[in-house]
Amino acid sequence: MKKYLFLLFLIAGTAQAEPFAKGNAETGKQLIVKYDCESCHKGKMGGNGSAIYTRANRVVTSAAILIDRMEQCSGAIGKQLSEQEKLDLAAHLNQTYYHFE
Ligand code: HEC
Repeated sequence: MKKYLFLLFLIAGTAQAEPFAKGNAETGKQLIVKYDCESCHKGKMGGNGSAIYTRANRVVTSAAILIDRMEQCSGAIGKQLSEQEKLDLAAHLNQTYYHFE
């Protein structure tokens, strides 16, 4: 039992700075392309669209809001993201742009 507790602490310690630890950022990056996420963002922000995540008045200010926003966006194109896809996308966006802990 003690051994497992120790392991738990170890995992908690390393995962601390990553709210989407179960997501795969590399897969998330590919999902952005698969769902053509930047198609709308481009129209709004220009460039490759990614400036939407770093704009001064960005709407995503927490890990929970990030998930909410992705649900709204994918809903707008009639797609339902799976829980794993949400985690993968969030892991990618968080590691690249938001850096929530
Ligand atoms: C139908 C068009 C559309 C599609 C497709 C779309 N988005 Fe968005 N997205 C928007 C708009 C518009 C905003 C800005 C909302 C605002 O300013 O309130 C936005 C904002 C966001 C934000 C918040 C940026 C911020 O301000 O911090 C995230 C995160 C995001 N989108 C993720 C995604 C992901 C992930 C996908 C693909 C699964 C996606 N979006 C697909 C239209 C879209």
